[in-house]
Amino acid sequence: MDLISRRDRIADRGPELLDEYGSPLYVYYESDLRENYRTLRNALDDHYPDSHVHFAVKACFEPGVLSVLRDAGCGAEAYANCELTAALDVGFDPGEILLTGMNRQPEDLERALSAGVGRFLVDNATELAKVADAADATGTEASVLVRANPAMEVPTHPGVATATRESKFGLDVESGRAMAVAREAAATEGVSLDGVQLHIGSQIKGIEPYGVAARETMTFAAEIRDELGIEIDVLDLGGGFPVPYDEDVPNSTDIIAHMADAVKTAAEGHGLPEPTLYLEPGRRLVGNAATLLATVGVVKETPHAEFAVLDAGTNAVSSYWPYPIYALHGEGDPVTASDPTPEGFREYHVAGPLCYTGDVLREDAPLPPLDRGDVIAVDRIGAYSLGSASNTNAEPKPPVVLIRENDEATVIREGESCSDVFGRSTVPDDLA
Ligand SMILES: Cc1ncc(COP(=O)(O)O)c(C=O)c1O
Repeated sequence: MDLISRRDRIADRGPELLDEYGSPLYVYYESDLRENYRTLRNALDDHYPDSHVHFAVKACFEPGVLSVLRDAGCGAEAYANCELTAALDVGFDPGEILLTGMNRQPEDLERALSAGVGRFLVDNATELAKVADAADATGTEASVLVRANPAMEVPTHPGVATATRESKFGLDVESGRAMAVAREAAATEGVSLDGVQLHIGSQIKGIEPYGVAARETMTFAAEIRDELGIEIDVLDLGGGFPVPYDEDVPNSTDIIAHMADAVKTAAEGHGLPEPTLYLEPGRRLVGNAATLLATVGVVKETPHAEFAVLDAGTNAVSSYWPYPIYALHGEGDPVTASDPTPEGFREYHVAGPLCYTGDVLREDAPLPPLDRGDVIAVDRIGAYSLGSASNTNAEPKPPVVLIRENDEATVIREGESCSDVFGRSTVPDDLA
């Protein structure tokens, strides 16, 4: 859905939602979540039917959102302990859960194995030993995928590039560390070496890295076959499918077509059977499914810029990405930061209310003239932002509503109050 249609959709409903639930407010759309899953699933059905989509729970661990994706047919990729709890609690089939993570606690691994979690990603040798111990403790067998890192060039923000030489993630293939862990996995009782994984990073702004990832991992799979005599069942190429924030990004269907082609060609070249393909998309499934509504409280000019100060800032909006920002009122279509400022628009530094200078969501955002009370949308904000929302300045986190497919709005997370912010704190008795 383009920005104009998105603005029309939220402009229709926004004021009524804010009246009812207050500002700021996160609004998720069930129809977007389902459509996002269908887009990926259809592309896989066309290009690589033997495949599974595991939603990267870290991208949005709200149970209401997870339930929609589970209902749509997704599996789950859980990185951390409470992500696993969320995935199990909302009823994902444990066999369709992939547990990742790079420093998990023994009790979490045991819980996952006892629950029947399908696959375990192994990021390092210690993690393999912990998985093996947990399998022993629970009398189960763990199906593991070795996380490879072939030191790639990754076109994205460096903070979210994972398959690079500098990254803490994965086992470097070139030095032989990845093979050493695969060898150990093959020799360890209670562990079954079933696959290879590579997650390039997030918001990948190119198609070719997926071809590189497919070729590198299939070469590693061939080395495993040659050295250990094991043909892997699963190739997991992670997530990273991008969302258009302020620029065009590759289309997920094209990425999947390219990736599928690279996997099949490499399998044929190495004389390997085509593996079952796993994907772990997060951002692409939820990123465009939410809009944050916030209200202008102050418009102030300084010698440097004109600031529009909202009731939500970097406490509610993670700062990595240039989310589209537009007003619900006024003539003129929303524009992205890379478009020229339309006639009749002004440029604002859109800031939050927090007590630090860096609390600015966007500099020079082209917007219609703003006044106190005007509503601003920070759009395509469904991935990662809510999870990284903070209580900076003791700000309560905003409520979250889900617009159901029948257009009904339902609260999936109550907004916090001051007592939620301080509810778990205590004061020493002698100071009370
Ligand atoms: C192991 C793993 N899988 C999947 C993802 C999801 O990435 P994205 O949200 O870009 O699809 C991540 C996030 O960086 C990750 O670390």
